Amino acid sequence: MNRILVALLLWLSVVSHSALASVLAIDYGSDWIKASLMSPGTPFDVLLNKDSKRKIQSTVGWKKEDRLFASDAFNIAGRFPTDSFSSLKYLQAAPYDSPAVSYYISISSTELLETSRGTVAFRRSDGSEWSVEELVAMQFAYIRDLAETSLGGEKVTDVILTVPPYYTQHERDAVIDAVEIAGMRTLALIHDGSAVAVNYAMTRTFEKPEYHIIYDAGASSIRASLVSFASVPAEPKSKQLATQITVHGVGYDRQVGGTEMDRRLREMLIREFDKKHHKDIRADRRGMAKLWKEAGRVKAILSANTEAMASVESLAFDIDFRTKVTRADFESVCKDLKQRFASPIYDALDFAGLTMDNITSVILTGGATRTPMLQAAIKAAVGDDKLARNVNTDEAAVLGAALYGAGLSRQFKTKDIRVGDINIHDIQVSYQAEAKAKSDAAKPRTINTVVFPAGSRVGSRKTLTFKRKDNFAIQLNYKNQPLAGYPLDILEAEISGIPEALGNLTERGAIDPVVKATVVLSDSGFVSVQDAVAFGEIKDDSITGKLKGLFGSGSSSDAAPTEQETLARSEAPEDESSSESSATPSPTPTPEKKVSPKDNTIALELKINLSSIPPMSVAQKRASRDRLAAIDREEAAKRRKEEARNSLEGYLYRVRDLLEEDSTTPFMKCSQEQERNSMREKLDETFSWLYDQGDDAQTADYIQKRSAIESIERPVIHRYKEIEEFPKALNSSQMWNWSTRLFLTEAHQNLTASLEDPNAPPSKYTREELDALEKTLREHEAWLHEMVEKQKLVKMNEDPVLESSVLKEKAKKLENHLQRLVKKKPPRVKKPTTSSSASSTSSTSTGEQARETEPAGGHDEL
Ligand SMILES: *[C@@H]1O[C@H](CO)[C@@H](O)[C@H](O)[C@H]1NC(C)=O
Ligand SMILES: *[C@@H]1O[C@H](CO)[C@@H](O)[C@H](O)[C@H]1NC(C)=O
Ligand SMILES: *[C@@H]1O[C@H](CO)[C@@H](O)[C@H](O)[C@H]1NC(C)=O
Ligand SMILES: *[C@@H]1O[C@H](CO)[C@@H](O)[C@H](O)[C@H]1NC(C)=O
Ligand SMILES: *[C@@H]1O[C@H](CO)[C@@H](O)[C@H](O)[C@H]1NC(C)=O
Ligand SMILES: *[C@@H]1O[C@H](CO)[C@@H](O)[C@H](O)[C@H]1NC(C)=O
Repeated sequence: MNRILVALLLWLSVVSHSALASVLAIDYGSDWIKASLMSPGTPFDVLLNKDSKRKIQSTVGWKKEDRLFASDAFNIAGRFPTDSFSSLKYLQAAPYDSPAVSYYISISSTELLETSRGTVAFRRSDGSEWSVEELVAMQFAYIRDLAETSLGGEKVTDVILTVPPYYTQHERDAVIDAVEIAGMRTLALIHDGSAVAVNYAMTRTFEKPEYHIIYDAGASSIRASLVSFASVPAEPKSKQLATQITVHGVGYDRQVGGTEMDRRLREMLIREFDKKHHKDIRADRRGMAKLWKEAGRVKAILSANTEAMASVESLAFDIDFRTKVTRADFESVCKDLKQRFASPIYDALDFAGLTMDNITSVILTGGATRTPMLQAAIKAAVGDDKLARNVNTDEAAVLGAALYGAGLSRQFKTKDIRVGDINIHDIQVSYQAEAKAKSDAAKPRTINTVVFPAGSRVGSRKTLTFKRKDNFAIQLNYKNQPLAGYPLDILEAEISGIPEALGNLTERGAIDPVVKATVVLSDSGFVSVQDAVAFGEIKDDSITGKLKGLFGSGSSSDAAPTEQETLARSEAPEDESSSESSATPSPTPTPEKKVSPKDNTIALELKINLSSIPPMSVAQKRASRDRLAAIDREEAAKRRKEEARNSLEGYLYRVRDLLEEDSTTPFMKCSQEQERNSMREKLDETFSWLYDQGDDAQTADYIQKRSAIESIERPVIHRYKEIEEFPKALNSSQMWNWSTRLFLTEAHQNLTASLEDPNAPPSKYTREELDALEKTLREHEAWLHEMVEKQKLVKMNEDPVLESSVLKEKAKKLENHLQRLVKKKPPRVKKPTTSSSASSTSSTSTGEQARETEPAGGHDEL
């Protein structure tokens, strides 16, 4: 069984801060995006929108030139119906001509077109075209930016996403393509039901195994996942327990959900409008978009009330539309849905081979479970006592996914929760039978064998053995159409180099060598052909060879193929701890031939040919990424321009106020008439420039206009700054003057004493040293005196003759000279007495001690 370690955060533990990366979890719904960030040192919670909302509307759009996200983008649909893109989840890898796309067209007012890959793109009102992947990528990037902002700018690249368990390989590819266009990396995909189960298990222990159904009713679908929870030893024979979550069955309905209810409610409104006004609103994109929004609003009101008033001003044809909608009427148009609400639960039970008796509870989650008629249907189906509302309706999946992602990255201190998930579509391998004889060119037979039946564990692999002589290709495809109009084919793998490899093995004594191909079902639910080899047992006369023959290790003799090309055997999953956790949308071919140590397998060449809806190519993704980056750059430039303009405008008003103030303000006191005049002149000029040409100007123009006025203002500001600074600098300067004088007086006394009294301690300083300092001091005093006198004559609105910076610089020179002497080592004492030796020790002071003798206050200031 596949094991994925998932973690409950008792607390986030930081191993080494620099090595850690954050994990972003995204639950991308049809109506709402929920996101959560797992980051060292950050509280674990859902990510908040710019306006502190916990869920973010899944919409991107443009209001003319400006790109908008979330509710801003949703709310403009009524004005710009072809520029607001919602419910994109319906369209991930949807074939352009499929019923899913027709359905989308019935709920959306956008303009669709087909991409070169056969999927959907949109045409905006400005004519530009955007693929679904690009629009989803923009939303992923928007979420990423929110996350990075919340981390103070730290980069976020690893993302884990929830997907519905029914998502096909193509749909999963579309999710990952969007992540890559957004410049991020997919850590894993997790089924949303399993993510909710992880969230459920976080705070619970399971003494004996329990079965629960996670019932998730979203906007675009309803799904039920039957999961078991059990405590298992973390390691074999270990006392430590882990929680094992196992998925046993899934049921779903891709045609029922909140959106379908919205659609039916809007149909009611359309009929009412038609009845009252006899006009066809369907042709009016704006009107339809407004009614869509109103239907959602009315549905929400009807969840809590038995009636609601629908009201749209100027809906279409200049008509203000108002009508009453009752819950009873709404429920009657949804009557046929009622039995569909509960059927995923029964499907999940059938899938798992269990009955409702085995189920402890049905855990409700998803926005559509707020609708009373859905609640009633589920209650009727499962009974009141089994209905559980013990997880967060909106956030359980994303929080579970974040924990799962944290477990994968193994950087967080975690509770041990393991998920054993399943694939729910039958996946088969198909290939052409080899012609029995050269002449037998009649009709090629196709052989189909299911390799991963529905219910197969993800994170497993199977080795297929073929008795083939020539190169051939195998296809992986769905046995049944996953959704009407969706393709069956997943990929094709051409295996070549077979005749040469078989010839080599035969030459070396192998009997009946075969071709083996390994197919993989990754943890994220992708299938691929991982490698292909030629294999033959070579007669080995050594002891180990004989032993191996005895125990039949690696033997394929039991395969006993009934026909030449039969798929002889599919082995049980080999490698249960294989780390297929990273999403691998397209397998990498292994072209180089290598021979195994046993010399009995030879790698074959694999060429993967992708399906009718291939994932985007590297070049396509790069092109999309460049388009998104261009928008980002444009928006950044626009923001900078906006900022420069605002800054200029703000500055102009401030300067105007300065000029209008009375004469007591520092600005007025420190400025000259002529300066003010020239500022006023420039100010008027700039105001009228801003008024006339401000809208077409460049960022640099705004900046240049501002600095033109600033250059006149700057000397004025400098003057009043100096008026503040100067006394402080002067004080400090005088302090040094004063300390130096004090020092000199004392040092002279010591020198005189040592010369006159032989018992006195020797002087630390020579006369020359003291004279030099005396000279520096006198020069400093003289300079200071002269400059201060000059400065006294300077008026407030004139530039100072003595700058505080110069004052500090000069004081520093004096200080340095003084410090040099203070730090000087005392001369050696010839005959140390106890007292003199003590004093000599204390004066052999380190720099730090010497500095304690510095004049107080002086050092800090300079
Ligand atoms: C499910 O319930 C049936 C009948 O109550 C019981 O026989 C069976 O063992 C249960 N299965 C599991 C897996 O608990
Ligand atoms: C078979 O493979 C071995 C190992 O790579 C190589 O040395 C040898 O030349 C090959 N023989 C033939 C006939 O291709
Ligand atoms: C690859 O797939 C395409 C589309 O299915 C098909 O037209 C083409 O022939 C295939 N190429 C090979 C080499 O099989
Ligand atoms: C003067 O001598 C005394 C006593 O020896 C000493 O503590 C002091 O640091 C000396 N002062 C100077 C400036 O050298
Ligand atoms: C420097 O200090 C001396 C002694 O304290 C004082 O007489 C003199 O006026 C000071 N000079 C200046 C410029 O402050
Ligand atoms: C000068 O500095 C001293 C010491 O830092 C302080 O006590 C005194 O108040 C200051 N005088 C002026 C005018 O700033």
